[in-house]
Amino acid sequence: MDIEREEIMNIVTVGHVDHGKSTVVGRLMADTGVLPEGKLEQIRENCRRNSKPFEYAFLLDALKNEQAQGITIDTARCFFKTEKRHYIIIDAPGHIEFLKNMVTGASRAEAALLVIDAARGIEENTRRHGYFLSMLGIRQVAVLVNKMDLVDYSREVYEDIRSSYADFLAKIGITPASFIPVSGMEGDNIANHSANMPWYQGMNVLEQLDCFRAVPEPEDRPLRLPVQGVYKFTESNDSRRIIAGTVDAGRVRAGDKVVLWPSGKRTTVKTLEYFSGPTPDQFKAGQAAGLTMKEQIFIRRGEIVCREDEPAPKVGVRLKVNLFWLGKQRLVQDKTYHLKCGTAKVEMKLAEVQRIVNASDLSYCLRQYVDKNEVAECVLQLDRPIAFDLAGECDATSRFVIVDDYEIAGGGIITAALEDKDFDDRNIRWSGDAVTAAERRRFARHGGLVVWMTGLSGAGKTTIAQETERRLLEKGYLAYILDGDKLRRGLNSDLGFSEADRSENIRRTAEVANLFRDSGAVTIVTLISPFRASREQARRICGEGFMEVWVRAGVETCAARDPKGLYAKAKAGQISDFTGVSSPYEEPERPDLLLDTERWDEEECVETLLSAVLNRLK
Ligand code: ADX
Repeated sequence: MDIEREEIMNIVTVGHVDHGKSTVVGRLMADTGVLPEGKLEQIRENCRRNSKPFEYAFLLDALKNEQAQGITIDTARCFFKTEKRHYIIIDAPGHIEFLKNMVTGASRAEAALLVIDAARGIEENTRRHGYFLSMLGIRQVAVLVNKMDLVDYSREVYEDIRSSYADFLAKIGITPASFIPVSGMEGDNIANHSANMPWYQGMNVLEQLDCFRAVPEPEDRPLRLPVQGVYKFTESNDSRRIIAGTVDAGRVRAGDKVVLWPSGKRTTVKTLEYFSGPTPDQFKAGQAAGLTMKEQIFIRRGEIVCREDEPAPKVGVRLKVNLFWLGKQRLVQDKTYHLKCGTAKVEMKLAEVQRIVNASDLSYCLRQYVDKNEVAECVLQLDRPIAFDLAGECDATSRFVIVDDYEIAGGGIITAALEDKDFDDRNIRWSGDAVTAAERRRFARHGGLVVWMTGLSGAGKTTIAQETERRLLEKGYLAYILDGDKLRRGLNSDLGFSEADRSENIRRTAEVANLFRDSGAVTIVTLISPFRASREQARRICGEGFMEVWVRAGVETCAARDPKGLYAKAKAGQISDFTGVSSPYEEPERPDLLLDTERWDEEECVETLLSAVLNRLK
């Protein structure tokens, strides 16, 4: 088959070894008719003779190292086609080579099929696989809930897996294109619409594959021409300065208005120069190009020529990257390396390691250096700005290599451009190995916050707090309530209700809340905290991650509700210094949020609080 002229898409399959990846792939090949004549029957026959049940996985084994329609098929790369295009299936992960190729950009996958065994459900490995895809920048993912035949095609089992795995994927920034209940063994929903699962109305696997978007060809992308050098001709009558380089993406013609990044200088292409042969009317991706410009601006090696009418690259000194480390010496902080991206070469330091993934088992850990054969999510600090693209936009300008002592020691892809604020995480680091707030944030996937709920006894603080805590936990946030009544039984059991004791109660609680916040938890404090000055002190203790929420209800309402019978006792003189009766409550003047429980019902209050909290966590 002539695959040159047709569209090809690389698909990576991930999943636990026993979850049936090969069966699904074997079935895809069989159902799309790419197998050599008689192959399927031959294997069925073999199975019969050895009295083994037939499995599509055997098919892949049998095809190993065989020539099928001119293409070598092995278990790691399989081909099949639909009317729309050809597919190359790459099996991953666990292979160091695969990771290395993906991270350094030597190979590329546009989409992924993630296979989960319906009978076994989500396992630690399943989560790692999701993370692995996110790290490689693969955003188009279909999740196949496989072996549905083993769970009697149960919609409930499927829905359970779907909802909890979708939640997990959302946390790591993946919105799956679809979840598909399938059976690789029986062929359900692979190339057909299974009669066994009439409750599933979505696409089958083949339809989903055809829906994935192909990455546009490099020449159809915005122009990226990293400048390799500038050549001056000094012979008589020749004053040309030729800007030379290889076009990594896009096209350029004479007359194009261009911008050079990172300098931001603008000019217009005057002529195209070709050293041998006639001058073409355009240069496109993959070609070596020479240009002269209308204005004589100073251009350096390392800049990227881009077109004014197309999206500009990013420019920055602080990069978030995924890198693969190959160096014998580990990658460490406080050492100067060189980073090469496009034709730019700058000095760099490792600013922070955010996560390290072991390439062979995909387990991850956290420490501030990277060893050989590890993949790491890092922040790199450059000594001067470069122009670059983000992974998935333009291969050549989003990849980089790191040079250590004249040798290439690592490579990777740029996933984000970060602001260059002076990193206070480094300054507040207490000792060399202390976990930083930023590291904690990365692990929890959110930062901490103190939600300080103040209000009269009976206003509804605890009720709203408890429901909010539950919903936060369900959404995957770490949340915890510090309740006044509970604290007064332990930590604050020596305190009463005099003004001084209440202030001390609030001070201690604020200190504890601040530590909880530092650990990354959404810390909900429910304390009457009747004094403005004490609440201001709490705000100072907790710093920026503090939110004052006034749970408001008038004394009459609270006394009428009187859930603990305390108002009655206070009015009868059995309790002294009772807030609202015999002790003041100073209303907040500018709370961050007001929840009026006289006017709003519980659900409205919880929803309002929840969305305010989620907003602050963004
Ligand atoms: S605060 O004033 O110091 O912020 P805190 O919220 O810890 O008060 O404790 C209030 C709880 O203690 C009330 O919910 C109530 O159950 C109990 N309590 C007992 N005596 C009093 C009192 N004199 N005033 C207010 N609450 C009291």
